[in-house]
Amino acid sequence: EFQQRVFSGVQPTGNLHLGNYLGAIQRFVALQDSYDCIYCVVDMHAITVWQDPIELKKQIREVTAAFIAAGIDPAKHIVFNQSQVSGHAELAWVFNCVARLGWLNRMTQFKEKAGKDRENASVGLYAYPSLMAADILLYRATHVPVGEDQKQHLELTRDIAQKFNNDFGPSIASLGLGESFFPLTEPLIGGPAARVMSLRDGSKKMSKSDPSDLSRINLTDDADQVASKIRKAKTDPEPLPTEAEGLKGRPEADNLVGIYAALSDTPKEQVLTDFGGGQFSTFKSALVDLAVAKLGPIGAEMKRLVAEPTHIDAILRDGAARARVLADETLNQVKDIVGF
Ligand code: ADP
Ligand code: NA
Repeated sequence: EFQQRVFSGVQPTGNLHLGNYLGAIQRFVALQDSYDCIYCVVDMHAITVWQDPIELKKQIREVTAAFIAAGIDPAKHIVFNQSQVSGHAELAWVFNCVARLGWLNRMTQFKEKAGKDRENASVGLYAYPSLMAADILLYRATHVPVGEDQKQHLELTRDIAQKFNNDFGPSIASLGLGESFFPLTEPLIGGPAARVMSLRDGSKKMSKSDPSDLSRINLTDDADQVASKIRKAKTDPEPLPTEAEGLKGRPEADNLVGIYAALSDTPKEQVLTDFGGGQFSTFKSALVDLAVAKLGPIGAEMKRLVAEPTHIDAILRDGAARARVLADETLNQVKDIVGF
């Protein structure tokens, strides 16, 4: 049986926003009491599109700072950056040889990120999902907390694990490594903020790459910025509904209620019990207070931590050393299984 273990990663590619926090980081924090957790700054994923080297180094520290500031404990759990554990790249190569071209051709994130000029996308961007499978399975993680946008990649991870287990079944058995070598990892997706939408357009997800800074709340925004972005958030003219059913067809209202629910750790129904029938202006004021109370201390702590880069680098070094022990064990077995 597989040990219950959580793995997840965040790319160091730009300002962390409320979507990253509610869809991922806040949930990473909550899982620490029930699982052994491994949280990774996925810098190798970041370079699938061009990154300025100086900026990348800065962003690696910033994501690490966000993890710590949000409440991840790097002494109890593992926090590190992907490029420092070479097993990720090695296992990804094996998985490139397990995954089928047809599987990768179906990945919608590649299509979105490559855009129209697909011929000019990096090979890494295309192979991204097999590196992601390697990240997870290198630690034989059983659970992966992610936002809704990662659902398809998690399904591919399971397909890769299953095909590896089948293809090498006799070899796995003859080495006495059990029935199946890799677990079929469960995604942990859900809650009211599994997909936080842009504050300017309820049909687009909140994203680091959105050119409009008003579309997202950054973790390092100050109180005035948070307030002004929430006040300017797009809404419709109707008052808030009194029941969740009434949010259907009202993506902007649904998004703001979902954000409130996730920040206050209450169901959307409760938020509507409290604010339903009222005007958005009243609700937005309460949301500003809540967001500032919740995010303010995290942003401040992030700024304090990034000012101490040697401390952050020490956390990452220690995390990588501990991750490497687990990674090497899996990788040595994989090499044996494959016949290397
Ligand atoms: P981004 O998608 O912002 O470039 P990453 O790919 O590094 O960031 O994602 C980090 C985590 O944040 C993933 O678990 C992803 O699913 C989650 N995430 C990203 N955007 C959102 C969003 N708008 N709503 C909820 N979760 C999100
Ligand atoms: Na993403």
